[in-house]
Amino acid sequence: HANVQWGGRFAGGPSQIMQAINASISFDKVMWKQDIEGSLAHAAMLAHVGIISAGDEAAIRQGLADIGQEIESGSFVFSEALEDIHMNIEARLSERVGEAGKRLHTARSRNDQVATDFRLWVRDAIDGLDRQVASLMRALARRAEEHAADPMPGFTHLQTAQPVTFGHHLMAYVEMLARDRGRLADTRRRLNECPLGSAALAGTSFPIDRRMTAGLLHFDRPTANSLDAVSDRDFALEFLSALSIMAMHLSRMAEEIVIWCSSPFSFIRLSDAFTTGSSIMPQKRNPDAAELVRAKTGRMTGSLVGLLTVMKGLPLAYAKDMQEDKEPVFAATDAAALCLAACDGMVRDMTANTQQMRALAGSGYSTATDIADWLVRVLKLPFRTAHHVTGKLVARAEEKNIGLAELSIEDMRAEEPGITEDIYSVLSVDASIASRTSEGGTAPDNVRAQARRWLHALSAE
Ligand code: ARG
Repeated sequence: HANVQWGGRFAGGPSQIMQAINASISFDKVMWKQDIEGSLAHAAMLAHVGIISAGDEAAIRQGLADIGQEIESGSFVFSEALEDIHMNIEARLSERVGEAGKRLHTARSRNDQVATDFRLWVRDAIDGLDRQVASLMRALARRAEEHAADPMPGFTHLQTAQPVTFGHHLMAYVEMLARDRGRLADTRRRLNECPLGSAALAGTSFPIDRRMTAGLLHFDRPTANSLDAVSDRDFALEFLSALSIMAMHLSRMAEEIVIWCSSPFSFIRLSDAFTTGSSIMPQKRNPDAAELVRAKTGRMTGSLVGLLTVMKGLPLAYAKDMQEDKEPVFAATDAAALCLAACDGMVRDMTANTQQMRALAGSGYSTATDIADWLVRVLKLPFRTAHHVTGKLVARAEEKNIGLAELSIEDMRAEEPGITEDIYSVLSVDASIASRTSEGGTAPDNVRAQARRWLHALSAE
């Protein structure tokens, strides 16, 4: 039999295959709350301007509240024949409250309805994820304050470069996550216009009040162009871009966690709560959560590329292709929430092996730059010359299989006669990190101040 919502000009119903490819109810039912919210605002506006009666509005309001309860309690029967969440709820409303329910769709189309519901859903998702990012930043800053003065090897090319502090390294992620929050906030700001009232594509002849519905749904204003409003999915794409970049950050952190808790490194130990064992090798403690955070980045990036591909060739205005916007956004949101929670847990629970990090921070001639800097500062050598002299000193130490601090003063003077005993004062790891006092540098006081500044800012929110 023909569809009850649009079957007027149809003699027969769709084939099973048509219904299967057309329906979105299996995934868009998660937007039921937003759909009810949007309908409540629309009905209130219709009554306010006199398009429906106050009695009809009251019936719609009661009916939608009851439907919300049915969905929440699990008694609501979702129908694939009714295609999507919008028609499922509307059909049930008419079943429950009759004529009044059938008036709800006046001056609206599913095109502006779905655009509105989806914006509301993404807005909620942004707010939820933002809270999670803030929590992870707090966890990182707390651990950074604790380890503000604990040295670790700093790497470039994953080769020992110069000593840094573990706190400084953790604070680097706080900065990345702060930018991620900025991108989410920016997405939210641009998203916050209400498409409702754009109707199918051209607007409507009814005397609707779009400012009222926009206000009731906490949008900043109505969208300006009805064609754009029903065919725009920029907000979803911006959201997925922000999540992709954030996932890339989380993946880098996860990769470092994997490296740090590998046996040769042993910089950190994850708690039992965030570690798995091996079914064959009893000694194993595997960082599976970190590996999965690293891997789930693929979902965010995949979702972004997938939706860009869906959207790129569509003529204005709405086309059914756009129904494919939701699954990638829902999947990326779920994955992001899980990744943030896992990172939060790992960071809070991990134990730093400060002795091991300190030992390795001093190996690999990590204070060679400090020698070069000393030659520039004290002997006034040009940096290039100092770099060359230091290279010779490193080669000597390497030949003798000793560290730079163990080179005799005679060995030092063989390369540069002006060198004095004072040079040994810059060779320790602690001296090296303490000297990095430039703004944003790794000196422990800097790191502690930064961690406290962030903790203060985050607690004031
Ligand atoms: N289920 C559709 C979607 O998610 C709702 C809009 C349908 N509009 C239409 N003209 N067929 O995009």
